[in-house]
Amino acid sequence: MKNLFILSFLALLLGCTEVHITKPISEINEESLKERLTQLSARAASMVKDFPIDSNRIPRALEADGSLMASTSRDWTSGFYAGTLWSLYRFGGDESLRQAAEKWTAFEEKEKWDTHTHDLGFKLYCSFGEAYKTKPSQHYKDVLIQAAQTLSRRYHPTVGAIRSWDFNREIWQFPVIIDNMMNLELLFEAAELSGDSVFYNIAYQHALTTLDNHFRADYSSYHVIDYDTLSGGIRNRHTHQGASHESAWSRGQAWGLYGFTMAYRATKDPRFLEQAQAIAHFFFEHPNQPEDGIPYWDFNAPNIPDAYRDASAAAVAASGLVELSVHDPDNRDTYLNWADTVLKTLSSPEYQAKTPPFLLKHSVGNFPAGAEVDVPIVYADYYYVEALLRRLAVEQNRFPI
Ligand code: GLY
Repeated sequence: MKNLFILSFLALLLGCTEVHITKPISEINEESLKERLTQLSARAASMVKDFPIDSNRIPRALEADGSLMASTSRDWTSGFYAGTLWSLYRFGGDESLRQAAEKWTAFEEKEKWDTHTHDLGFKLYCSFGEAYKTKPSQHYKDVLIQAAQTLSRRYHPTVGAIRSWDFNREIWQFPVIIDNMMNLELLFEAAELSGDSVFYNIAYQHALTTLDNHFRADYSSYHVIDYDTLSGGIRNRHTHQGASHESAWSRGQAWGLYGFTMAYRATKDPRFLEQAQAIAHFFFEHPNQPEDGIPYWDFNAPNIPDAYRDASAAAVAASGLVELSVHDPDNRDTYLNWADTVLKTLSSPEYQAKTPPFLLKHSVGNFPAGAEVDVPIVYADYYYVEALLRRLAVEQNRFPI
């Protein structure tokens, strides 16, 4: 700890804009988690000082040449940076993080009206939801409820699911992607906040439909299920970001693991818990899963072991596993051991990013499109910090996490 202060002081003295963390975590325990979160908070605070707050330059990823890939609030990733700042503020109380989080969060508000996307959960739950968790206010609550109302308009009762994408209409009639499980958290939260059970029922049914149709016998997930809106039947089972239609895209597996764990928390339906347990075992037992816990970008990527790893999939899965350990105490150690392996690897110098405002390197956004391959991506950071915070809460017996 002392060495770290000296290093940080030297970095400040030299006016470094790059902040390095080189000390790996050898063991996950309360002390090491607090130390890492303290380092990350300090690093985020040093980065917000110089990073311009601009609604047209919301951080998303790094380009291959190391420059910033930025977005507006329309992008599905736009809420994650604000969410990471809120999380680190909740941990350490650094006022500069709160001030920056408030400003980045405000850019998201107009998205509550956007009926053309299913990603209102990612955008608004990860920004306004984190804001509400940190500093509850009527305004934050109203934004979340309006966003849930807007998202609910994409629900189709015959299909029993929320429509994901509007593009590729010549191929897909009603595409639903596994990622969409994550947007249900906004609906479950809005049901609690408003008392309106419509949000709850839509989220519940979407999870049931996904449970029925998205998974193969080995609990690997299809990325895209395309439904017929007249019969509710399946037209196509496709991929968009995976290696092939029949492959297991790693972030999709992670979204499923996290999503069904969260759906169990909200509904207590044992089918969702069983699904999360089975997807966790897919991660643990897959022959292509590296021992350091960071999956290749697709479990069936063609050039394993030379394929790129995806830190974002690992971070999402780790956060989901920490929550799963709370709901399934009989298998607590299995889940926590895996999450700890991931957190240790992500906290090693190999995975720590050096370029503001990012925390982690080595994520893969969309390999088939050649987009965001082996670069820092903002959602990896969000779920990494969330996983560390959840893990600390478990260590301190603080529930709910
Ligand atoms: N929701 C898009 C992705 O996971 O890349």
